[in-house]
Amino acid sequence: MTTAPAASRLLTALAGGEPDSTPVWFMRQAGRYQPEYRALRRRHGMLEIANTPELAASVTVAPVRQYGVDAAILFSDIMVPLGPAGVSFEIQEGVGPVVAEPIRDAAGAARIRDVDPARDLPQVLEAVERSVAALAGVPLIGFAGAPFTLASYLIEGRPSRQYAETKRLMWADPGLWDTLMNQLVRVVGAHLAAQVRAGARALQVFDSWAGALALGDYEASVAPHMRALFAELRALSVPVIYFAVGAGHLASAMAATGPTALGVDWREPVSQVRRRLPPGMPVQGNLDPAALLAPWPDVARQARAVLADAGRRGFVFNLGHGILPPTDPAAVARLVELVHAETQSPGSKSGPEVERGTGA
Ligand code: CP3
Repeated sequence: MTTAPAASRLLTALAGGEPDSTPVWFMRQAGRYQPEYRALRRRHGMLEIANTPELAASVTVAPVRQYGVDAAILFSDIMVPLGPAGVSFEIQEGVGPVVAEPIRDAAGAARIRDVDPARDLPQVLEAVERSVAALAGVPLIGFAGAPFTLASYLIEGRPSRQYAETKRLMWADPGLWDTLMNQLVRVVGAHLAAQVRAGARALQVFDSWAGALALGDYEASVAPHMRALFAELRALSVPVIYFAVGAGHLASAMAATGPTALGVDWREPVSQVRRRLPPGMPVQGNLDPAALLAPWPDVARQARAVLADAGRRGFVFNLGHGILPPTDPAAVARLVELVHAETQSPGSKSGPEVERGTGA
């Protein structure tokens, strides 16, 4: 690392500023909607790609080159750090993470060990380093699952709709719940810190399923652990985006746990969520991922509505959740161009073609 990284639209927006154009990236921007990724997946498993630095880095970097997005997100999965923590799991295609022995008692929770990423996850850190080198100044976003969302997979054993076992344990045995959540804060905190040390310049914490909780349960059983996690992450001096789906009722409680920015889904306009947030807190979102399956005029209309509603200051354009597999990559590229073109500040001379891949 010889020179200071170039200014970045993403980092400007996450600092509450107004970049030359609105930054845009997409959750699941590397994945099955891409023919190149599907071709790679015919030869390698998802976790095999994530655990092979050359492959992980090339999949991570591809959307920046292909669509001109303003950030890359590390190709990995929220379950990856749980492997060395002692959890045996697989990722089943079309299903998601499946845990061999779901955690239901103190003995199960005691199996979750500390993780030393340099020793236990060197392949992930090498993927970060290779991605950062190939990105030439475009920021890499490191990520982890939030303790609640990880706990939901550990306890249910697989993706769930009701989270009944998770809630049952949370209510029935608060001591055990806190032990498990504390331990997940340790694992996630170490994993995120290591990604920043390896070159990630922003972090996103996915609490994808927190929206299943009532506000009171979130505040009593999850928020204290998020406060501890974000307090620890502050020392890393990189912006941290906190994201959940269907969690409008939690927005102000989530913001109060101390992230830099809040990621929101499509159910409410950004302007409406903002009224419940601390003044000036940056927001990321929130086009409905299904909109990208619609004819282009509908995509454009809905994207313009998001941009008009959210404004330019402290705003990162994204979808309200991950890109859906039937999405046409050409629509993704066109959407990036639209976001950049429609939000270009009068003073900035460089168009999307010039900006592409430069990280400016
Ligand atoms: O481009 C990116 O966003 C980076 C890569 C990434 C993956 N998973 C790759 C992946 C990221 C950031 C994740 C995070 C993740 N994983 C979350 C949080 C984000 C969210 O969607 O809410 C969650 C809940 C998981 C758990 C998980 N892993 C699920 C629900 C699934 C989908 C199952 C399926 O097949 O539909 C996975 C598998 C997974 N993770 C895939 C990818 C590209 C698809 C698997 C494949 O290639 O076969």
